[in-house]
Amino acid sequence: MSSPSPNPSSSFNPPKSILIVGSGVFGLSTAWSLAKRPEFSKTKITIVDRSSFPAPDGSSIDTSRIIRPDYADPAYAALAAKAHETWRQQGPDELGGSGRYSESGLTLVANRGSNGLPYVRSSYENVLALNKGTPNEGTVHELKSSEEIKNCVRTGGTNGNWGYINTRSGWADAEASMIWLRKQVEATKRVTFLIGTVCSLLYSSASSVEGVKLSDNTAIKADLTILATGAWTPTLVDLRGRCQATGQVLSYIDISDAEQAALAKMPVLLNMSSGMFVIPPANNILKVARHGYGYTNPTTMPCPSPNPSPADTTICCPRTALDDPTLWIPQEGEMACHRALREMEATGWNGRKDQKKIIQDSNSSDDINLY
Ligand SMILES: Cc1cc2nc3c(=O)[nH]c(=O)nc-3n(C[C@H](O)[C@H](O)[C@H](O)COP(=O)(O)OP(=O)(O)OC[C@H]3O[C@@H](n4cnc5c(N)ncnc54)[C@H](O)[C@@H]3O)c2cc1C
Ligand SMILES: *[C@@H]1O[C@H](CO)[C@@H](O)[C@H](O)[C@H]1NC(C)=O
Repeated sequence: MSSPSPNPSSSFNPPKSILIVGSGVFGLSTAWSLAKRPEFSKTKITIVDRSSFPAPDGSSIDTSRIIRPDYADPAYAALAAKAHETWRQQGPDELGGSGRYSESGLTLVANRGSNGLPYVRSSYENVLALNKGTPNEGTVHELKSSEEIKNCVRTGGTNGNWGYINTRSGWADAEASMIWLRKQVEATKRVTFLIGTVCSLLYSSASSVEGVKLSDNTAIKADLTILATGAWTPTLVDLRGRCQATGQVLSYIDISDAEQAALAKMPVLLNMSSGMFVIPPANNILKVARHGYGYTNPTTMPCPSPNPSPADTTICCPRTALDDPTLWIPQEGEMACHRALREMEATGWNGRKDQKKIIQDSNSSDDINLY
């Protein structure tokens, strides 16, 4: 989409209708942003999603997301630092309020000599640079040995050997935050919400989209169609060779009251050598997961581009617990979660595996530094 002119009375000609497919964090934020801009005050804005809200298998929704400016790419780190200001607003009606954001701190570690180390070093340099000359100087501390990491994580275990803690990073209750976001969008009274599964785009020519077709054959037309379909996007446009949707390992472990109390004060732990991360528990649920290339799910279906070549019929698309209720983490991933838990294990609590699920996310071939 071209960016709107700052002066609404000048040549910018806003679309009469905009259709957003997907009501995850990208779809809702896009709708909110459009609804607030005077240039679009006459534009009809519609969101369609295949699931009722909150979608049980969207990437945006579960117990938690790490909220951090700690990224290896300086531009991305600066952008995340900007967003972080909004997360830190703690009034009951603000994004970070009512328990939606917790500033637990983030311990980012890697082993010296491992592939993950350059990421952690760049991230460390980026947050130091962002804090320099601001009141936040002194909130990031280098951890030079496994002893220092152990003292910082406070769960009794861990044995990596280099990293740092950013005491101003934390985590968000992802589902509660999405419910908050949806309320902001609804409050504008500018957006129509529909439930329906888009099965294809409607093309008026090979390069021009005029809307979508739903699985019940209804057509929804719009001047501008925006896909915010996350990992499902390759089922609607041809993304082969550009990015690929892969499945990531996520586990949610029921813990006892004593375990909850013992771990409540830990920082988020993100290990760039193994890709494993652990988010401090809430409501007796501990999340242990992995950032990585993930698992592919090659699927044979017609290529979604208007002129597919007949040979090209395999794409990767999500397979979630909605498609297959018996879906379980591959054993290799389950073992990785066990290993991560054993490493950080403290006296006084024991990691257990009671409940797990797998969800999918789009991921380029760029490994862990995507998130
Ligand atoms: C394991 C994991 C850990 C992550 N950790 C973090 C983190 O700690 N911090 C962080 O900032 N980010 C994290 N991310 C990234 C972040 O969660 C995602 O980038 C973000 O949620 C993507 O949002 P989205 O709106 O693009 O996709 P989604 O939330 O998946 O939304 C897509 C929506 O489109 C709908 N849809 C799809 N196809 C169709 C169709 N054909 N018709 C109609 N509707 C359709 C779906 O129902 C869904 O609601 C993580 C992601 C994963 C998978
Ligand atoms: C991070 O993972 C590596 C590789 O599995 C491991 O050797 C190291 O001890 C881990 N560090 C922490 C702090 O858990």
